[in-house]
Amino acid sequence: MIEIKKNVYWVGVKDWSLRQFHGHELSTHRGSTYNSYLIKDEKTVLVDTVWDPYKEEFAERLEKEVGLQNIDMIVINHIEPDHGGSLGYIMSKIPNTPIYCTKNGADIIKRHFHQDWNFNIVKTGDSVKIGEYELIFVEMQMLHWPDSLLTYVKGPNVALSNDAFGQHYSPASLFNDEVDTCELYQEAIKYYANILTPFSPLIKKKVEQIKALNLPIEMIAPSHGVIWRENPMQIVEKYYEWSQDYNEGTVVIVYDTMYKATKKMAEAIGEGLAKHNVMFKMYDNSITDQSDLLTELFKAKGMIIGSCTVNNTVLRSIAGLLDEIKGHKFKNKIGAAFGSYGWSGEAAKVISKHLEEAGIKVAAEPIQFRYVPTDEELLQCVEFGESFAKALGE
Ligand code: FEO
Repeated sequence: MIEIKKNVYWVGVKDWSLRQFHGHELSTHRGSTYNSYLIKDEKTVLVDTVWDPYKEEFAERLEKEVGLQNIDMIVINHIEPDHGGSLGYIMSKIPNTPIYCTKNGADIIKRHFHQDWNFNIVKTGDSVKIGEYELIFVEMQMLHWPDSLLTYVKGPNVALSNDAFGQHYSPASLFNDEVDTCELYQEAIKYYANILTPFSPLIKKKVEQIKALNLPIEMIAPSHGVIWRENPMQIVEKYYEWSQDYNEGTVVIVYDTMYKATKKMAEAIGEGLAKHNVMFKMYDNSITDQSDLLTELFKAKGMIIGSCTVNNTVLRSIAGLLDEIKGHKFKNKIGAAFGSYGWSGEAAKVISKHLEEAGIKVAAEPIQFRYVPTDEELLQCVEFGESFAKALGE
């Protein structure tokens, strides 16, 4: 147990070695943490649990430090298994303990554990006195599940925000002022880009609502990564910025290629962007970490996507990427497509169509050449890059 504020303790787990999360969907190069918290007042309150592979060590630690029978209530801010996974094990030891959660939370807990425990449903503005301190609840629906909840501990003024404001990051220290800021922000924006982007319009409204509540937030303690102790509102302000069609003006060129003809086109398009001093990043999608790439696409103003044609469509890595782009519901970005082909030549058109369907404004007709591009055709790719650079400014 680590005391993070008077009588508020971190009782989570550091998962240094985690490299994939959400099954195999999300890369976690710097591990993660499952932050659970314990508040010791007249009542002893456990807020969230940890992922179930750690349930026994978690329960043993709670037993040793506080005694499971002494836990008076459990708040479940979010039941996704990385936080709620150990709830079944804990409840098997203390089955009558009241659980505080949202209506959606109770529904989803029942769908996970098939048990009808002592649920106490809370909604935004509800509060519970636990002694000197008071818990105030703020629903965080779709940030990022229907059940998501923030628990504000009035007294020490700590916001236990669950996934919101978290990062998949497991440094030695628990606090933002004691870690590498570049690493911290890289992981925070990667978390937002990969998990929260589709919900950006809701996040903007939620941040406005949190600010309007005027709670004197002295610390934000999420359920992954470090706790925002120094200037905690900095991450709330960042979320506000990220939730509003965010971009840093960069361009991502991403392609897949069989015999490097499409690669040559990519490099020539890059030359065209460079002529106009556009900062671009180039990726061969077949060997690129998709979570890192989605982070770069989130930061980009433009995306230029290429594939050669196979079986009348795109290469499989590009097919997957196009689906991801659609699912992320990026806003205020422009795109274009390119690729080499042998005879039928569908790939660039398929990409262009998918970009349009994903809400990306297509800035140019797709460019494609048969087999290996000639020097003259590569010059046309340079010009394609140049006209894309101009479209960025429009
Ligand atoms: Fe960290 Fe939505 O679970």
